[in-house]
Amino acid sequence: MANYDLTPRIAPHLDRHLVFPLLEFLQEREMYSEAQLLKNKIELLSKTNMVDYAMDIHKSLYHTDDVPQEMVDRRVEVVARLKSLEEGAAPLVSFLQNEDKVQELRADKQYNLQMLNERYQIGPEQIEALYQYAKFQFECGNYSGAADFLYQYRALCTNSERSLSALWGKLAAEILMQNWDIALEELNRLKEIIDSKAFPSPLNQVQCRIWLMHWSLFIFFNHDNGRTQIIDLFNQDKYLNAIQTNAPHLLRYLATAFIVNKRRRPQFKDFVKVIQQEQCSYKDPITEFLACVYVNYDFDMAQQKLRECEEVILNDPFLGKRVEEGNYTTVPLRDEFLENARLFMCETYCRIHQRIDMRVLAEKLNLSYEEAERWIVTLIRSSKLDAKIDSKLGTIVMEPNYPNVYEQLIDHTKALSGRTYKLVGQLLEQGQAQTAR
Ligand SMILES: *[C@@H]1O[C@H](CO)[C@@H](O)[C@H](O)[C@H]1NC(C)=O
Ligand SMILES: *[C@@H]1O[C@H](CO)[C@@H](O)[C@H](O)[C@H]1NC(C)=O
Ligand SMILES: *[C@@H]1O[C@H](CO)[C@@H](O)[C@H](O)[C@H]1NC(C)=O
Repeated sequence: MANYDLTPRIAPHLDRHLVFPLLEFLQEREMYSEAQLLKNKIELLSKTNMVDYAMDIHKSLYHTDDVPQEMVDRRVEVVARLKSLEEGAAPLVSFLQNEDKVQELRADKQYNLQMLNERYQIGPEQIEALYQYAKFQFECGNYSGAADFLYQYRALCTNSERSLSALWGKLAAEILMQNWDIALEELNRLKEIIDSKAFPSPLNQVQCRIWLMHWSLFIFFNHDNGRTQIIDLFNQDKYLNAIQTNAPHLLRYLATAFIVNKRRRPQFKDFVKVIQQEQCSYKDPITEFLACVYVNYDFDMAQQKLRECEEVILNDPFLGKRVEEGNYTTVPLRDEFLENARLFMCETYCRIHQRIDMRVLAEKLNLSYEEAERWIVTLIRSSKLDAKIDSKLGTIVMEPNYPNVYEQLIDHTKALSGRTYKLVGQLLEQGQAQTAR
């Protein structure tokens, strides 16, 4: 299963701090050796200011109470640096913490900068110090402190590059605090800036989109509306292009979102084409499942893939989230995925046949006869299927006027040529009207 673990491909696109939750998950799943993961954590921590945390891990990894001298030195260094940054930021921080003084601020950045400068001798240097202090706090793992300061910094910052970097930091901090609503707002704010015409280099823009999508996984698989919003974001042309050229592993998450969405999305058919196109650059059981059902109509293989999908979901840090319910744990996304995936299969199977023996269908889908019948009823009720059940014969008869998959394709082409005719017709009519005059 480690073969399907995307962490090594995802981590390079994340802030270091965002990698910790992934490592925690892998540790719980016991997919790698504990020692290996702890070493990875120490390695990650060595580039942050979370020295105490690194020391704790070192102690538990090597079963000792001693820590290497370099960690001790680093701790002294971090504490000293924190103190000096705190002093640098103190004038502005104490202003911002004073409610009466904060009242003097207005919605006008230029006014505020001038006012701060004239009345409190707080200038660019002190504002820069606030940024450095916030960033350092973040590196120390104080995400709430960092989020507050970065927010305040952005309100006073006049350098767009710096402001953008503060926004990334704020987003990371909100994700790490699991404030999904606020994190989503920050995500949208960032997206707007990245998509704006004024954004510097196109190459950088693509890179930012890729980061944004990776960071968004935390939000989308935790926020209530996430599974719809991930489709809205990832499936946009510019974002989908970025996925296809630079991060095809993200197809797993888009495919999953399409499958767990109860309502079949109009973009779904095109997405299946993308899956097919990208088979050489990326596939996993989830994308292969879609290809089996929608491209190859191979239901036996789809069954097999579905079993692998379950394993993939259980071992994916974003998809395999556990929820405690009383004295047992569920993985809600796994359950929804399997249920919907089977409905997909059932629906497609029916569409490519005219008369179906319920027993054969049940076997194809690995369901009991009663289950198969219940599923068909569900599909008919939700009007995803236009069919009748003949309980006596145990067959499903598709309504003759029901367009099957091939016909739908033809329909699509027809709609196009229909439009062309209409256009030509209009031109002709106009021509005639003119001649008549
Ligand atoms: C985090 O930063 C804030 C603001 O500086 C501070 O008040 C708070 O004590 C810090 N928390 C920790 C745990 O250091
Ligand atoms: C959960 O706990 C209750 C009471 O403690 C017990 O009756 C029940 O069988 C448990 N359920 C499971 C699935 O273990
Ligand atoms: C069919 O489902 C049963 C449980 O319902 C499972 O144990 C078995 O492995 C499944 N077989 C296939 C071929 O998926």
